[in-house]
This record gives sequence, C-alpha cells and structure tokens, in this order.
Amino acid sequence: MTEKHATLSIDNGEGSVDNIELPIHEGTLGPDVVNVSGLTAEGYFTFDPGFTSTAACESQITFIDGANGVLLHRGYPIEQLAEHSDYLETCYLLLYGELPTAEQKTEFVRTVHQHTMVHEQIRTFFNGFRRDAHPMAIMCGVVGALSAFYHDSTDISDQNHRTVAAYRLIAKMPTIAAMSYKFSIGQPFMYPDNSLDYSANFLHMMFGNPCEPSNISPVIARAMDKIFLLHADHEQNASTSTVRLAGSSQANPFACIAAGIAALWGPSHGGANEAVVKMLEEIGDVSNIDEYIARAKDKDDPFRLMGFGHRVYKNFDPRAKVMKQAADEVLAELGINDPMLDIAKRLEEIALEDAYFVDKKLYPNVDFYSGIILKALGIPTTMFTVIFAVGRTVGWIAHWNEMISGSYRIGRPRQLYTGYSERDFVTIDKR
Ligand code: CMC
Repeated sequence: MTEKHATLSIDNGEGSVDNIELPIHEGTLGPDVVNVSGLTAEGYFTFDPGFTSTAACESQITFIDGANGVLLHRGYPIEQLAEHSDYLETCYLLLYGELPTAEQKTEFVRTVHQHTMVHEQIRTFFNGFRRDAHPMAIMCGVVGALSAFYHDSTDISDQNHRTVAAYRLIAKMPTIAAMSYKFSIGQPFMYPDNSLDYSANFLHMMFGNPCEPSNISPVIARAMDKIFLLHADHEQNASTSTVRLAGSSQANPFACIAAGIAALWGPSHGGANEAVVKMLEEIGDVSNIDEYIARAKDKDDPFRLMGFGHRVYKNFDPRAKVMKQAADEVLAELGINDPMLDIAKRLEEIALEDAYFVDKKLYPNVDFYSGIILKALGIPTTMFTVIFAVGRTVGWIAHWNEMISGSYRIGRPRQLYTGYSERDFVTIDKR
C-alpha cells in the first residue's frame, strides 16, 4: 500500500466545492485502486452497477490482464500450468500459494482420494428429484445439503475444519456430479475407484457400470483433466463473488459453494458452454450463420452469440487458446467428424473478422471451445455446466478461505434509491 491519494471534488450546492481525499492502493499488478470506503462518512455512496469498476476485496490468488489476455494463478501463467501441471497440482497451488514438492503432491492427492465417497445416506437424497431434473438443480441441492452430513467441518473459525471442508468439496464434487447424471439416465450410482486419478475416476463414475470393468480412454481422461484445470479459478467472477458474499455472513462452506453453483448456472456465466451447443444445433447449417450473426448484431433482438465476449477479456481469453488447441488434438486423436464443428469453425472465422465483433472486442471465450470439446468427449450437454462447477470448486474454496483467514466484514452493498418518498398508508376502501 502506498501513500498516493485522489481528490474527489463535489459541488456542495452552496457555491463552493468540498474536497474529499481518498487513499490509492497499489497492487503488485493491475490498475491502482481508489479506496472509497470513507465516502459514507461524507454522505455519499459510489454507484457501479455490475461492479465494472469496483474491487470488492484484496486477493493474492489469481490475476487477469484482460487487455493483454493474461491469466496468472499465484503468478504462474495458465498456459504453463496447462502444459506442465495437472488439475490436483493446480488445486494445491491455488489453496496453498506454492507448487507442491513431489512429497507434498503425493500426500495431497492421497488425501483428496480418501474423501471421494459420499455419506451413504446422500444416495437416498437423489430419489427426491425428478429423473428429468437438470443436473445443476441437483448439484445446488445436494452440495448445499452436505453441511447436514459433515458437521465436523463447519466451524469456519477453525483452520482444520476449513481444510477438511476444502478436501471434502474438491473430492466429492465429481462423485455428486456423476451421481446426478447416473440418476437422470436411470443407471446405478458408481462408487469412486481411488486407484484412478481424479479425472479418470470422474469418467469411471460417469460412464462405468457395475456389470463391466471400466475402460477409460487416457486421451479423454487427459482432456478432462485439462478442462478442470482451465476452469479452476478466475478471480472475482459472479460465482466467486457470490461465494465470498455468502461466506461473509459466516455461512458454512458447503452452503457457500452451493450459492456459487447457483450463480454459475446462468447462460451469461457457466451456463454458456451448454448454451453454445444449443446455439450451434439451432443454427443447424453453415448456410444459416449469416442470419444468426445479423440477429446477434440487432439491438432489438435479445439473441447473443453464446461463447463470445467477456467482461474482462478484451483480447483472446488465454484459456480459450489452450482449450481450442486441446479440442483440435482430441478431435484429431478420436477421429471425430461432426458437422456442428464446421458451423463452430465458420462462426469463429466470421466473428473474428466482422466489424461489430472486432470493434466491441468480442472474442470467443473459454465456453465456446469447452462446449465443443465436451461434446466430442461424449459428455451429455446438460452436464457441461456441472463440469465447470467441479473444476471451479477449488477456486471458490481458495477465495472463501482467503477471506475467512484474513479480516473481513459482512458484504453489504448500498443502493441509489429511486422509489417513493415517505407517504401515508391508504386503507383498502380508499384505493
Ligand atoms: N453477442 C452479441 N453481442 C454481444 C455479445 C455477444 N455474445 N456480448 C456482448 N455483446 C455486445 C453487447 O450487446 C454490448 O453492445 P453495446 O455496447 O452496443 O450495448 C457490448 O457487446 C458489451 O456487452 P455487455 O453485455 O455490456 O458486456 P458485459 O461485460 O456486461 O457481458 C458477457 C459479458 C460475457 C455476459 C457477454 O459478452 C455475453 O453475454 N456473452 C455471451 C455469453 C457467454 O459466452 N458467457 C460466458 C462468459 S466466459 C465464461 C465465464 O467466465 O463465466
């Protein structure tokens, strides 16, 4: 923190100006931050719908430079992590701040694997849902209910409780995700196989059945792991901010992560990968692309090109670059030839040249390619956002833990009130 200040001059309506001095904080990277927390005492709030200019917290986990397409986890570029690391190692990095030694990694992986099974009673929960329930609906419910089963990790003031809750959530999310899929297709739940690595185990629980040995393709397991890794964290996005806000009231970690899952679900956030595939299906043929591009540009049409644009990236999303490369490799390796991919490719080409998208800096985002790769891997569309949630769980927990371990206050934004002034109640016979 430095000694820089900004001065806010406000016309006080009495022919003079009030000068309010506001401290400026300097981070390691990124724009300086004007600390407006003292403004309330001066009788003002700031107004920033969508939090486009608001830093809601201080964090040391992830840095994004949207103009230059940079994403760093604890300082390490996402491209390097995607090439040299794996999902669980990246989890360790996000949680503990440093890459693990070989010994630490072995211990971390072993502990996560120990927690993959869910309480047997949780299985009966599923029978309360309709078979055609969206798996994200099931995820919100079941993850929120975990606090009813794991009381011994809900004392948020105890670091050991927080650590156990973190392990439980990271380990159990794939199990619950796979159970919500199995339930929807009427197949028996598969117990985790802890001899498999994290991603292969998830695929085993998704696609295996008790009658036959699982046959998990290492190509698909590697791709799945990369997908989890690329989704692991993304600083103060809508779902992470939701987790922090829920956590700021001292709610238990399972409830906070359930809140994050709910915020992720929408098509403007994690629901975009599912929406991309639905959109490509709706376009149906390369010959229809122009019509959809025209609709996306039409101010009177709510249609948007799903998988394009980002609040922070005004350049290529670095995750999208890695995801695109992974998609190309998987498609080539599995010999997949899907006409939907031709539509996606052409759409990408057009959008990258079209003045509307170029001027507004609307590049394909991570969800554009993850939708394509997940489809190629044979993952059902309704599970796409669930997979995003599984990968993002570690980011949510890392941020929640960072907040709870430091000093924080309950999150409580203010408002610009434009409703009625005070008025007298009118009895029903006079209305
Ligand atoms: N198609 C057509 N026009 C768009 C699109 C799009 N996908 N995205 C933004 N625009 C236009 C928008 O109409 C606006 O135009 P104008 O300035 O003329 O009013 C301008 O670009 C800025 O858009 P915005 O909605 O103000 O930007 P935002 O930062 O509030 O929203 C977004 C970001 C990601 C919600 C938005 O780009 C969008 O809806 N994209 C499609 C959904 C999507 O792919 N979401 C996944 C995001 S990446 C995964 C994640 O991190 O969650």
